[in-house]
Amino acid sequence: MGRMPEGSEREVVAPRRVAVVGAGHVGLVTAACLAYLGCEVTAVDSDPRKVEALRRGNLYIHEPHLRDILDACRERVRFTTDLEPVVLASEVLFVAVGTPGRADGSVDLSGVEGVARGVGRVLGGAGRERPLVVVNKSTVPVGGGDYVSRLLREGGAGEGSFRVVSNPEFLREGRAVLDTLFPDRVVLGGESEEALEIMRELYCPIVEQSFPSPIEPRPKREVPLIVTDLASAETIKYAANAFLATKISFINEISRFCELVGADVGEVARGIGLDHRIGGAFLEAGIGWGGSCFPKDVAALRAMAEGQGLGMPLLAAAEEVNLAQRREAVCRVRSALGGSLEGERVALLGLSFKPGTEDLRGSPALEIAALLIMEGARVAGYDPVSAKKAARRVPGLEPCHDPYSALEDARAAVVATAWEEVRALDLVRAAAIMREPRLLVDGRNALDPEEARAAGLLYSGFGRG
Ligand code: UGA
Repeated sequence: MGRMPEGSEREVVAPRRVAVVGAGHVGLVTAACLAYLGCEVTAVDSDPRKVEALRRGNLYIHEPHLRDILDACRERVRFTTDLEPVVLASEVLFVAVGTPGRADGSVDLSGVEGVARGVGRVLGGAGRERPLVVVNKSTVPVGGGDYVSRLLREGGAGEGSFRVVSNPEFLREGRAVLDTLFPDRVVLGGESEEALEIMRELYCPIVEQSFPSPIEPRPKREVPLIVTDLASAETIKYAANAFLATKISFINEISRFCELVGADVGEVARGIGLDHRIGGAFLEAGIGWGGSCFPKDVAALRAMAEGQGLGMPLLAAAEEVNLAQRREAVCRVRSALGGSLEGERVALLGLSFKPGTEDLRGSPALEIAALLIMEGARVAGYDPVSAKKAARRVPGLEPCHDPYSALEDARAAVVATAWEEVRALDLVRAAAIMREPRLLVDGRNALDPEEARAAGLLYSGFGRG
C-alpha cells in the first residue's frame, strides 16, 4: 500500500504493523478499516470479555459494513489484552480509548493516561530502530498531544523512542465505516516531519481512494489532507462538532419562529441549505442533538475557553436551545393531557440518540423519558435495538419491542428517534389503539402531518406551520 511522495528525499515505506488501543466504536472501526486497506492490525483492549467476543467474531456494535470488511481481511486483524508485545511490534499506535465528559464540562482523560503511561513503560525498556508514531485519535482537549508526550516520558520512554501525532476522528455512528473510508478530509497534526510522512503514507490509499470499495457506486474523488500543528488539529475536532451542534440549534430556533408565522421549517431548511455557503446537512429540526460527542465536545470546548477567561456565549446558547427542545416535547404532552401527567400512559418511539445505532449515550429520548416519569407518567419505550438497555438506564421505563405495544392505550406518543420502523408506522392502526386525544409529538419531523391527521391523530411536529 502507499507510495513514495514525489520529491521526497527519503523513501518512506507505508507502515504495515499498526496497533489500535481501545476497541470501542472508533477503535474497532479504525482497526477494521486499516486492515481492509492492507495493514497488519492488532487491536488492544483491557476488557478480556470484549477481546474474547471479538475473537469469536461477535461484534458488539451495530455498524453497517463492519462485518463485511472484517470478513474480507480477517487474517490481518488480531485482538488482545496484552499491550507490551504489540507496542514492541508496531510502527504506528493509535490511541482510541474513550474520553468521557464530566459534569463540569471537563474531560476524563484517565483512559488516555493509562495507555500513554503503559506504552511509555514498554518503550522505556526497548531499543527501537525507529520511533513509534503514537497517534491521538481519542478526542482530547487542546494540548492533549503534548500531554501524551509528557505521559510517555513519565512512563519511561526515551525522547527519541516516539513521536506524537493528532489525527482527529470525524466518523458518525451508523456510518462509521463509510466515513472512515470515504471521509470529507483527513486531518493530521504534529511537529515531527518524519512522523507526519509516515502518517501520509498510511492514509495514502484513503487520500487517493486507491482501494477496492466495499460499496457500489463508490464516491470518486481525492480526499483533502490537512497537515498542521498539534493545537490546530485538536481544535479542528472541537470546532467541527461545535459548529454542527450550533447549526442544529440554529434551525431549531428558526423552527420556533416558523411556528409563530405559519412557515414550514423543512421548506426553510431546503431554501437556505441550497446556498452552498450554508449547506443542506444538519438542518433537521426536532428535539435536538445528543450522543456521546456533541454534548461532551461542546461542553469541553466551553470549559477550555472559560478556564482561560474566554466566554463562549454562542455555544452556551446552542446548548440552551438544545435542552429547551426536549423540554418542549414534554410540555406539549402535558398541555394536551390537561396539565398533569400523573398516571398517564405515554409512548416513546425510538430511544437511541439517533437511528442506526444502539447507542443511548446522551440520548434526548432518555431525558424525555426521565422527565415524563418524574411527572408521574407511565412511559412505554419502543426501540428496534436498545429497548431493554434503555429500561435498565431509566427506572420505570417499560421496554417494548414493537411500536404498537408501546402505543396501546397511550394518550400521547413522542417520536424521539427516526428509525425506519418508526417512519413506516401504520398511522391508522396507531390511532385505533391509542386513546383520546391521540397526541403524536413528532420530535424528528419523521411522519407526514396530513396522513397523521387523516388517521385521527393530533399531530404536533416541530416548525411545521
Ligand atoms: C458526531 C459528528 O457528526 C461526527 O463527525 C463526529 O466524528 C462524532 O460526532 C464524534 O465526535 O465522534 P455522531 O455523534 O455519531 O457524530 O452523530 P451525528 O450524526 O452527528 O448526530 C448527532 C445528533 O444530532 C443526533 O442526536 C442527531 O439526531 C442530531 N441531529 C443531527 C439533529 O437533531 N438534526 C440534524 O439535522 C442532524
